[in-house]
Amino acid sequence: MEERKGRRIIMFPLPFAGHINPMIKLAGIFHHRGFSVTILHTSFNSPDPSYYPQFTFRTIHHNNEGKEEDPLSPQDSGMDLVAFIRQLRQSYAEPFRESLAAEVGGGDTVYCLVSDVVWGRNTEVAAEEVGIHRMVLSTSGAASFCAYAAYPLLRDKGYIPIKDSRLDELVTELPPLKVKDLPVMETNEPEELFRVVNNMVKGAKSSSGVIWNTFEDFERPSLMDLNSKLKVPIFPIGPFHKHSDNFSPSTKSTEDNVTTDWLNKKNPQSVVYVSFGSLADIEEKEFLDIAWGLRNSEQPFLWVVRPGLVRGTEWLESLSCEFMDNISHKGKIVKWVNQLEVLAHPAVGAFWTHCGWNSTLESICEGVPMICTPCFTDQHVNARYIVDVWKVGMMLERSKMDRKEIEKVIRSVMIEEGDGIREMCLKWKERANVCLSKDGSSSTYLEKLVSHVLSFDS
Ligand code: UDX
Repeated sequence: MEERKGRRIIMFPLPFAGHINPMIKLAGIFHHRGFSVTILHTSFNSPDPSYYPQFTFRTIHHNNEGKEEDPLSPQDSGMDLVAFIRQLRQSYAEPFRESLAAEVGGGDTVYCLVSDVVWGRNTEVAAEEVGIHRMVLSTSGAASFCAYAAYPLLRDKGYIPIKDSRLDELVTELPPLKVKDLPVMETNEPEELFRVVNNMVKGAKSSSGVIWNTFEDFERPSLMDLNSKLKVPIFPIGPFHKHSDNFSPSTKSTEDNVTTDWLNKKNPQSVVYVSFGSLADIEEKEFLDIAWGLRNSEQPFLWVVRPGLVRGTEWLESLSCEFMDNISHKGKIVKWVNQLEVLAHPAVGAFWTHCGWNSTLESICEGVPMICTPCFTDQHVNARYIVDVWKVGMMLERSKMDRKEIEKVIRSVMIEEGDGIREMCLKWKERANVCLSKDGSSSTYLEKLVSHVLSFDS
């Protein structure tokens, strides 16, 4: 490991697991390359610094904190994430500016700020004021970013806002995406969605470079497209969590151990692992269909039901005693797992996922076939690519999801069509490993990224 000679990078993640996790992995990569890292994080949903003693953490408090008008909870915005992101950006803009100025004035040479691309241009002025470069991290894939970059065109051509009558129409400008695959989100503030997306794309264009948690072989056409559209250096150095120099917090919870023991008792590739990430929520009827579909598939299953996943309920109260008795020998329901460990376990045969980008990459890296039920934004794009381009999964659309269909698709992936999909999964797993090997594209881009950042000092 190189010595850290007062070279500091400041990072500013968006405060959701799907964004914080990859930012912290990126911090680990920079740290291993000789940089010290300060993570500025919002008081909302802040990470636990005790897991990461090698980084400095600073909490940014927003102006209304602790007061009654404290607006910061996605539940208070009716889980309208667009409205919530607007609130986050407004509440933390000024406190972020002050915190950044305090950090930059503090001794070490600060080489750059790496902020989540979703903060958009919010962080641009703050970085300019203190005279540092700003790079951005895209925690979603390149294909979905191409669709975001095409928002003005998609709007001009009437593809968005999406009309029910056009759902299955091919978007000829962005094949293989259909209209229903475009990265949109249900919101009461549709104009704000356009603003957030356009601001994000502009913020990438005006940055000193975009870091991508993807690998070249996986998304070459999209990366080439972005290279020409964004006109700034791009660095696809992923998958971050597989860099040999990365680390995982060594502490394991008791629940994790119980889950591993449970998996250890199952046959190889027999378990369906089900998780819809850290943000998506579903209706109670969907929840019950999922429950009975899993039960009726007769496959063992490990199901993450996050408190808050099912609208209007606390946790599992809508599942009957009859159901719980019925599944006791086959199924396990938990609130959260160490997903990286679960996907790497030989007992796991398929991942029923909402297709968040981290989940997609994590599944690819372990060669696990996917059942795709996208919920919002980039997840729709990811799902289309998983099924039609990378051919590592099957679609199970929310709108068509009843217990019979669920049972059919699970059986299909686990038993009937599993072999072809599994073969493709192993191929992509191998290609990810090649990209991460010594002369592979992700390693080469990482060298370029480090030189790029070091050049900011000259
Ligand atoms: C969000 C968006 O939904 C996603 O589309 C975008 O690309 C990133 O931000 P999220 O919905 O949480 O993320 O999904 P995902 O990207 O899959 O990230 C979830 C993370 O939480 C993964 O790293 C996963 O390993 C982790 N996780 C999830 C756990 O560790 N345990 C769990 O039980 C569930």
